[in-house]
Amino acid sequence: MKPTEQRVQQLPHLVRLLMLLTAAVVLVLVVVVTRIYGPVGAPAPTVVANEATDGPPPPGSYHRPATPAPDTALIPRTAAGRRIRYGRELIASTAQYLGPAGSVAHLTNGMNCQNCHLQAGTQGFANNYLAVAATYPKLRARSGQVEGIEKRVNDCLVRSLNGQALADSSREMRAMVAYIKWLGQGIPKGQKVYGTGFMQLAYLDRATDPVIGKAVFAGKCQSCHGPEGQGQPLADGRGYQYPPLWGPHSYNDGAGLFRVTNFAKYVKAAMPYGATFDHPQLTDKQAWDVAAFVNSQPRPHLSASHDWPDIGQKPVDYPFGPYADAFSVRQHKYGPWQPIEAAHPAKNK
Ligand code: HEC
Ligand code: HEC
Repeated sequence: MKPTEQRVQQLPHLVRLLMLLTAAVVLVLVVVVTRIYGPVGAPAPTVVANEATDGPPPPGSYHRPATPAPDTALIPRTAAGRRIRYGRELIASTAQYLGPAGSVAHLTNGMNCQNCHLQAGTQGFANNYLAVAATYPKLRARSGQVEGIEKRVNDCLVRSLNGQALADSSREMRAMVAYIKWLGQGIPKGQKVYGTGFMQLAYLDRATDPVIGKAVFAGKCQSCHGPEGQGQPLADGRGYQYPPLWGPHSYNDGAGLFRVTNFAKYVKAAMPYGATFDHPQLTDKQAWDVAAFVNSQPRPHLSASHDWPDIGQKPVDYPFGPYADAFSVRQHKYGPWQPIEAAHPAKNK
C-alpha cells in the first residue's frame, strides 16, 4: 500500500473520532445546563418497593442508603413555603409550641414528634414519614375507618404525646400536613420508598424478657433517659433534652410504641441515640428485651375500647383483649408470636 492510500483510509477514523468527541461534549453540556436551569424541587425518588405487592425488604438488604428526603433549602420562599417550614418546626420542637409551657397552646406532654420520628421524620427506618403522603387516606384497622393525614397526626397527639387533638383547620395542623406532603412529593400514589416507617425484625424463638431488658436498659439507656425512665428536662422547662420512656409524662398505653414489636423495631434502628438502621448498636435480642422491659413499666392510660372494632384484625402483639383466639394477654404482649401468627395465617401482622 502506498503512503497516500494509507492516509485516505485513516480519514474515516479521524471523522469518527471527531464525532465521538463532539457527542461527549454535547452530553456534558446537557448535563451541566439541566443541573443549572433544570426544574426546581427535588428529583422524584426512585420507588423500590411496594409492600402491598413486593412485601417488606428481604433480610440483609438493610445496607443501602435510605431514600433521602427533599432538600429543605428547596422549600419555596412563598406563603406556602412558610407553612411547610412552620410544620417542620412544629414536628421538631412540638413542646415549644404545644407543650405544657407552649407558646401557642397547652395540648401535649412535653415530648416532640421528632423524639420518635427522628430528624423531623426523615431518618431512614426511624419512623420515617416519606410514604405518608402517598399512602393516606387509607383504611386503618385500628379505627375501622378511612383516615386522612390529619386524623393520623391527631392519633399521635392524643396517644404518643398523651394530649389533645388539633382542629383540622388549625394553623398548626395545616402546617404539619403541608410539611408531610412536601416530604412525599414525587412519590406515586400508593407506593412506599426504601427507608420509610420501621425496619423488619425477626421474632425471637422465645418470649421477650423484661428482666433481661432491665439490664439492657441499665447498661445502654439509663445514662440519658434516667434511672426511672423519667428523661432529662431542658433547663427552661419547655421540653426535654432526653425524653421520658415511662411514667406520667411519657406516651400512653394507646400509643403505637406501646406495642413491643414497634418499640423493638424503632430502637433497633435508632437507639442509643446515634444508632442508624445500617449501623445499629443493639443486637436483635437486646432490642426485643428492652422493649419488653420499658413497656412493662407504668404510664398513662388511654380509654381506647373503640380501637380494633374487628377483633380478628388486632396485631399479634396488641396487649389488650378480647381476642379472636385463645392465647393469653401475656403471650400477645410479650410473645412468642409465631404460634399466634400460625393460628391466623391470613391475618395482618
Ligand atoms: C412516642 C413516640 C411518638 C411520638 C412522640 C409521635 N409519634 Fe407518630 N408514630 C409513632 C409510631 C410508633 C407510629 C407507627 C404506629 C403504627 O404503625 O402502629 C407513628 C405513626 C405516625 C404517622 C403515620 C406514619 C405512616 O407511615 O403511616 C404519622 C403521620 C405520625 N406518626 C405523625 C406524628 C406527629 C405529627 C407527631 C407529633 C404531633 C407524632 N407523630 C408524634 C410514634 C410517635
Ligand atoms: C446518648 C443518649 C441516649 C441514649 C444512651 C439512649 N437514648 Fe433514647 N433518646 C435519646 C434522645 C436524644 C431521644 C430524642 C431524639 C430526638 O428528639 O431527636 C431519644 C428518644 C428515644 C425514644 C422515643 C421517645 C420516647 O421518649 O419514648 C425511645 C423509645 C428511646 N429513646 C429508647 C431508648 C432505649 C431503649 C435506649 C437504650 C437501648 C436509649 N433510648 C438510649 C437519647 C438517648
